[in-house]
Amino acid sequence: MNRMSFGKYLYRHWKSWAVILTLWLISLPLSLLNPYLAKLIIDKAYPDRDLKLFLIIAVIGASIFALNSAINYFSSYLLQRTKREVHFDITISIFRHLQNLPLKFFNHKSTGEHIYKIVSDVNAVTYFLCDTIPQMFMIIPRAVFILIIIFFLNSKLALFAICIIPLAYLEPYFFTKFLRQVTTLVIEKSQQLWIRLYETFSHIHLIKALGKEDAEINRFEGDLKETMVAELKNERLSNIRILSGSLVDRIISGAVILYGGYLVIKGKMSLGSLSAVMIYLTQLVGLSKSINEFFQAITVSSISFKRLTEIMDTKPQITDSCNAKDYRIPRGGIEFKNVSFGYAEKFILQNLSFTIEPGAKIALVGPSGCGKSTLLALIVRLYELQEGAIEIDGLDIKQVRLKSLKEQIGIALQEEFLWNDTVKNNILYTKENASMDEVIRAVAIAEADDFINSLPQGFDTLIGENACRISEGQKQRLAIARAVIKRAKILILDEALSSLDSRTEDKIVDNLNSDFPDSTLILVSHRLSSVRKMDTVYYLESPCIIKTGTHQELAEENLKYRELFASQIEEAVI
Ligand SMILES: Nc1ncnc2c1ncn2[C@@H]1O[C@H](COP(=O)(O)OP(=O)(O)O)[C@@H](O)[C@H]1O
Ligand SMILES: [Mg+2]
Repeated sequence: MNRMSFGKYLYRHWKSWAVILTLWLISLPLSLLNPYLAKLIIDKAYPDRDLKLFLIIAVIGASIFALNSAINYFSSYLLQRTKREVHFDITISIFRHLQNLPLKFFNHKSTGEHIYKIVSDVNAVTYFLCDTIPQMFMIIPRAVFILIIIFFLNSKLALFAICIIPLAYLEPYFFTKFLRQVTTLVIEKSQQLWIRLYETFSHIHLIKALGKEDAEINRFEGDLKETMVAELKNERLSNIRILSGSLVDRIISGAVILYGGYLVIKGKMSLGSLSAVMIYLTQLVGLSKSINEFFQAITVSSISFKRLTEIMDTKPQITDSCNAKDYRIPRGGIEFKNVSFGYAEKFILQNLSFTIEPGAKIALVGPSGCGKSTLLALIVRLYELQEGAIEIDGLDIKQVRLKSLKEQIGIALQEEFLWNDTVKNNILYTKENASMDEVIRAVAIAEADDFINSLPQGFDTLIGENACRISEGQKQRLAIARAVIKRAKILILDEALSSLDSRTEDKIVDNLNSDFPDSTLILVSHRLSSVRKMDTVYYLESPCIIKTGTHQELAEENLKYRELFASQIEEAVI
């Protein structure tokens, strides 16, 4: 995608643009008539002392002004509306595209950067598309019109102006390089500020707990100073440009006045014509300012175009293949066939093969960092496999439409995110049309009913940003309720019970085993009592070896496995 492809956002509203340009074209000659009327007054009405002519010209001038104002009002309104629509279209396209990008993309970027792009870069691009480009369309006819009128008033002066005016266009070329450097700096620094703001306020709890408020104030102050310095550089450059621009404008106007004065003195031009030419010339020089702004806008917006294009050019890596289909998981059996995967060059899982029977209740164990979460992420296709295949009930998951796959797997993670919404709405997030009975049942499985009933507004209690008004354990129970409400054929709990006391964890595991007799349950837990409740333990020993058996069998034959639970085995004996 390049800058031109953003043109489609303009093209979508071509009818509005056609009306706006037509109105501008009507308004153009009207706006240029008044100086000519002034010339008539100076050259005809005043010398002849013709009051009638004077009044007629004044009424014509006033009528033209009124008509032009009405046209301008309507075209400005239409322009604003179209601009809002283009802004809306671009923002939603970028947001939609970002939503569909693979997780890997987000692992290498910070959230503040995306927010900055959606807000600030989209604004810059919309400004260029909807303000700069249409105005450029009008500059050429306007300049041609003005030159024709000047030509009509005095051809020599018009030729002189045509020769000298291009001087005004040299200046933007000279500043382009500096402008690009300074704008890039401003964007970098402002983005850094947004990233800092986002990270600070989303981790305010941690900052307070560690007493790092002063350190954060200092860091923010440093970023703010750097942004201020960059903005000042930008403003300094802008002032130099304005100064040099007005100097060039004065030189051009001065030269034309001198030459025009010479023509008047020599009797080759009337005073009225010179007055009119001067007004037209001011307008012509004003156009050179617009052209300067156009070049500036090209330079400034090209940086934002590039930043948005980076997003739009990143392909949604995991997309549905053309023969992908909606699929109802019949039994929930999972098979890994020679699966290899790594985030970078190093494989986390390598040539790994194993089977989980339909409806099996299994514990997935292994030391932290061995790849358990990665393995589970692959089942829901958060990442693409490098080699091998994963099948559910004999069908490669690549053949299943992504949405359909994810709808049928219930998943709860250790660090669950809950929305700043009510308890009930958070549970309904995975099944919006669930009945209250279903919600109550899910809550009972998650052993969350007691604590929800004790909340001030029960299910309607707002839990705050990042669920700050409830405890970690309560958060995890809501996340379990949210995962089980779908009553999926495959249920995955990745250390999702880690903040709970062992009695509650035991109860939830029992509830899951009894309430989901036919579903496949994969539980990642470091708690021995939960692991023991599972039919089979899958022990991820190395990137390519997964050992299976009951806890007893694995403990007897595998030293490393025994060490994993050593302290808990001793406690159990006590
Ligand atoms: N998004 C990621 N990008 C790069 N490396 C990652 C990412 N997530 C996990 N890892 C690495 O992959 C390995 C396995 O991580 P993970 O599957 O989370 O382990 P576990 O769940 O068993 O504790 C770790 O070494 C970890 O550092
Ligand atoms: Mg993990």
